[in-house]
Amino acid sequence: MTTVNLAPIRFPPPRRSCLSVPAINQRALDKTHGLECDVVIFDLEDSVAPERKAEARDNLRRFFRETPLEGVERVIRINGADTEFRGSDLDLVLELQPDAVLLPKVGDPAEVREATKFLSGGPTEVRLWAMMETPRGVLNAAMIAEVGREADGRLDCFVLGLNDLRKETGVPPEPGRAYLVPWMMQVVLAARAHGLDVLDSVFNDFRDEAGFAAECGQGRSMGFDGKMLIHPAQIAASNESFGPAPQALIEAEAIIAAFSDPATGDRNVINMNGRMVERLHLEQAEKLMATAKQISLRKKKT
Ligand code: COA
Ligand code: MG
Repeated sequence: MTTVNLAPIRFPPPRRSCLSVPAINQRALDKTHGLECDVVIFDLEDSVAPERKAEARDNLRRFFRETPLEGVERVIRINGADTEFRGSDLDLVLELQPDAVLLPKVGDPAEVREATKFLSGGPTEVRLWAMMETPRGVLNAAMIAEVGREADGRLDCFVLGLNDLRKETGVPPEPGRAYLVPWMMQVVLAARAHGLDVLDSVFNDFRDEAGFAAECGQGRSMGFDGKMLIHPAQIAASNESFGPAPQALIEAEAIIAAFSDPATGDRNVINMNGRMVERLHLEQAEKLMATAKQISLRKKKT
């Protein structure tokens, strides 16, 4: 049987805004067409009652057949490895071939290894994403990332889940997330050590615009690539916070121009208006420009 070895994506698509949509909610599914989010996460897990899982899978079958979502990554969040729904969910993933499958409540590397084994048995490019939302998951984040990368490169992204983590640890929801920050940074670090993207957790109070904007700003400062969202009203602010700022693009262009200038291009360190710029900044600038380009191409399609 043909197997696929997936190289890491050099410039992953923008993942500023990742909207979760309960697969059981037909009205919400219909709404996703035309939204400006970068990713839609079709949820078969906690937002779907156990007795309605089969109906939710049928909704996704119909949706994938009838609704092309141009330029948007499609991710299916399946049920946990310890549930009776896992097998049928995985079969659905092979049938629908979304861009990625999101594993919930990943606690140790064996879960990623097992899912990789299942997917790499056939010619599928479906990537793996993993929710980091249990104490064991956060403690094992580095090992999970390493195993997911060394298998066949299929693991692509971590998604932080603070609702579950708060429930498991007893840390209450508070603005600023002070006591969660060390664990959040541990997940960011583990992701970066192995070349993964990493998304910040959902913000439950979807009518609190100021609170949401503040949390997006914090997530951006902590190094997250984007945020998991629960409501369409959160998309615009998330895109703005996690997208390239206009000033950053101007600076990136200047850095790329400086390193392409024959007068300075063979240097490793440049003085740009009193600021030291190194080749590592050139790499960052190229990544930023690539992201901006992908965002503008996506906009043209919608
Ligand atoms: N995706 C797509 N559309 C959504 C949506 C979502 N996540 N959340 C709400 N909408 C739609 C609603 O269907 C509604 O459409 P309508 O105007 O055509 O009726 C519109 O946006 C306004 O919704 P609103 O009335 O403000 O909220 P609601 O009561 O319909 O839904 C929630 C509120 C929280 C139940 C809903 O947003 C939701 O289910 N979010 C996702 C939950 C989830 O995925 N959880 C698991 C991951 S943490
Ligand atoms: Mg969860």
